[in-house]
Amino acid sequence: MKPILVAGATGNVGAQVVTQLRARDIPVRALSRNPPPDGVRGDLARPDTIAPALDGVDTAFLMLAGSAEALVPTVSLLGEHVKRVVFLSSGAVDDSLPEQDNPIGAWHRIVEEAIEAAGVEWTFLRPHGFAANTLGWAPAIRADGVVRGAYGEASMPLIHERDIAAVAVEALTGSGHAEAKYVVTGTRPLTQIEQVRIIGEAAGRPARWEEIPLEAAREALLAKMPDFIVDTMLAGMRGLTEEPSEVTTTVQDVTGRPALDFEVWAADHAADFQ
Ligand SMILES: NC(=O)c1ccc[n+]([C@@H]2O[C@H](COP(=O)([O-])OP(=O)(O)OC[C@H]3O[C@@H](n4cnc5c(N)ncnc54)[C@H](OP(=O)(O)O)[C@@H]3O)[C@@H](O)[C@H]2O)c1
Repeated sequence: MKPILVAGATGNVGAQVVTQLRARDIPVRALSRNPPPDGVRGDLARPDTIAPALDGVDTAFLMLAGSAEALVPTVSLLGEHVKRVVFLSSGAVDDSLPEQDNPIGAWHRIVEEAIEAAGVEWTFLRPHGFAANTLGWAPAIRADGVVRGAYGEASMPLIHERDIAAVAVEALTGSGHAEAKYVVTGTRPLTQIEQVRIIGEAAGRPARWEEIPLEAAREALLAKMPDFIVDTMLAGMRGLTEEPSEVTTTVQDVTGRPALDFEVWAADHAADFQ
């Protein structure tokens, strides 16, 4: 059996893709810049470093790491070697728009278009918010159990990385997924206030949300990411206070089992918050 290349193999989703493929006895080539001991080293922004990992591979799991533009030559290289690419895209991509109206959607669409042009069979996974994003609250929850931010009422069906990977594994190994654009979500919308409470319960320490002024929340986020990302995120959160993001049945439809509740994710990651 030919190995499947898994890019971003140490990340939230990639590590799960590796685990779930190996659980099916499918050989894996696990790629990142700092690979696991049984993985291969490669930088997605430098196709020359990826080429050796493609020997004997005809299926690849790809994610967006670094800039979308830098990934385009690597996608072309994949097109010369592999028959199938499953790309971890984003629910921010909106097919109804001729031009994406936010940077996150635009970056992912650049890579999607390169894959469409590469002459491979493709599947795009378009998840909305990852449950793993809440790991960013771990220092606050460990410190005093209080998560301070804006738009606590923003409500979204966060997705477990295990579920994204399960859909990816079906698309990598099964049939009937060509040209599918799978919008992947968790089971039900939860406000940020509810998410913090559920994490606290799983971690065995009370945790609560504290609303702070928007400008203070923005300042705190600017310490971690560039302003246009912060503003895109905050605008998205504001929208989610008015209308929660959509819930899809993709995990059930593709894998045959329901998606995992946020409570399951919190229990799986309880130690990160203790
Ligand atoms: N977070 C969300 O809510 C959300 C929603 C929709 C879509 N997404 C998509 O999901 C992606 C994040 O996935 P994730 O959380 O699984 O990632 P992650 O945990 O941040 O891990 C990133 C992985 O990529 C590797 N990597 C980074 N730069 C690389 C490079 N230049 N060449 C090769 N490997 C590289 C990292 O290992 P090394 O550092 O060792 O290379 C690591 O294995 C986002 O970028 C976005 O495209 C996220």
